[in-house]
Amino acid sequence: MSAANRGVVYKGPGQVAVESIPYPELALGNRKCDHGVILKVVTTNICGSDQHMVRGRTTAPSGLVLGHEITGLVAECGRDVEFIKPGDLVSVPFNIACGRCRNCKEGRTGICLNVNPSRPGAAYGYVDMGGWAGGQTEYVMVPYADFNLLKFPDADQAMEKIRDLTLLSDIFPTGFHGCVTAGVGPGSTVYIAGAGPVGLAAAVSAQLLGAACVIVGDMIEERLAQARSFGCETLDLTQEGDMADRIEEILGEREVDAFVDCVGFEAHACGCNHGKEAPATVLNSAMSLTRAGGQIGIPGLYVTEDPGAADDAAKQGALSMRFGLGWAKSHSFHTGQCPVMAYHRPLMQAILFGKVNIADAVNVQMITLDQAPKGYADFDGGAAKKFVIDPHGSVAA
Ligand SMILES: NC(=O)c1ccc[n+]([C@@H]2O[C@H](COP(=O)([O-])OP(=O)(O)OC[C@H]3O[C@@H](n4cnc5c(N)ncnc54)[C@H](O)[C@@H]3O)[C@@H](O)[C@H]2O)c1
Ligand SMILES: [Zn+2]
Ligand SMILES: [Zn+2]
Repeated sequence: MSAANRGVVYKGPGQVAVESIPYPELALGNRKCDHGVILKVVTTNICGSDQHMVRGRTTAPSGLVLGHEITGLVAECGRDVEFIKPGDLVSVPFNIACGRCRNCKEGRTGICLNVNPSRPGAAYGYVDMGGWAGGQTEYVMVPYADFNLLKFPDADQAMEKIRDLTLLSDIFPTGFHGCVTAGVGPGSTVYIAGAGPVGLAAAVSAQLLGAACVIVGDMIEERLAQARSFGCETLDLTQEGDMADRIEEILGEREVDAFVDCVGFEAHACGCNHGKEAPATVLNSAMSLTRAGGQIGIPGLYVTEDPGAADDAAKQGALSMRFGLGWAKSHSFHTGQCPVMAYHRPLMQAILFGKVNIADAVNVQMITLDQAPKGYADFDGGAAKKFVIDPHGSVAA
């Protein structure tokens, strides 16, 4: 087996570089991973979650190999892998899960108890997420392979839809989970905060779940145009005006049934203050704009430490929320990592049977590994694109 590998490395705020890195081993430090496989990465996506680290808004150390959205070909199986075979084309849930702990047994794979000594839940290439190497690389190790991996039924057929299937590792399940936990169903009216890739994936998911009307809000016109391209209504939040009034113009009502926060802690204020950060603004809008008894899905990421926050409370993740309003309206809130495994198989089937065009909706843009630093910069600049790295040129071929 070749010993060469390259990957995207976080170098410090605003900087990533493509560097030579070690070829993966079936181990994490002293911990043996005979249950793992080594993948030849076919596609690996850049995520808004990576940007929190690259913007210096987390405690991520310099030298971290990035990437948690991975699709690959199995190159090598550990001794204890029983059902996954070399040559299988597989989607990797971004959550690392052991399949043995109480939470995994209950399907809560985003908060596995055995994969991160410092807190429940782990991911590849992410700060505080257990130290597992990232997958914006040529090769990566995936532990507990029989449990974690989703094998595509036919590799050739899958390569034809790889632009869509690559989104099963995170944003499609995440957007779908946001809608499910917001209670979206046939006939729902839905507000999606954020028209980044997760927001657009949530909007497609709301449509797939039968929503009557999906409204997407953001400050970036190009991203809102993307949402309109597949039938969403949009709110340009750089404009002045009460959000409830603007929702009433669209729905004839001032509240929605379901609200999904696809922004997180780096939220910006609306209207004339739209350049300024206001970390609780989406959560507060959720409570004012969701009907009494409604549900609020919060896939947008909130952190326990934010060294770049504007005030001391926010530096500890403490936000100024009008929680009493949510209480008065009997709202339900659902937070946390999406348990990808709960959704990836049915969403794969929806893609393979042509029921959904998720890649077009989020505007997938394929790039090479060497173009990753530019992909990060363009994405940070608000491009209405989901950047997908093709590290071996296998998709281009
Ligand atoms: N829970 C999970 O499992 C999970 C998985 C993937 C991503 N995430 C998180 O989801 C969030 C979105 O990810 P992404 O890749 O789409 O990121 P992104 O940064 O591309 O998108 C965020 C969008 O929110 C917009 N925005 C800022 N303030 C706003 C406001 N007040 N109202 C509406 N829109 C506003 C921004 O202009 C931007 O377009 C991130 O916080 C990411 O970390 C969570
Ligand atoms: Zn992601
Ligand atoms: Zn577990």
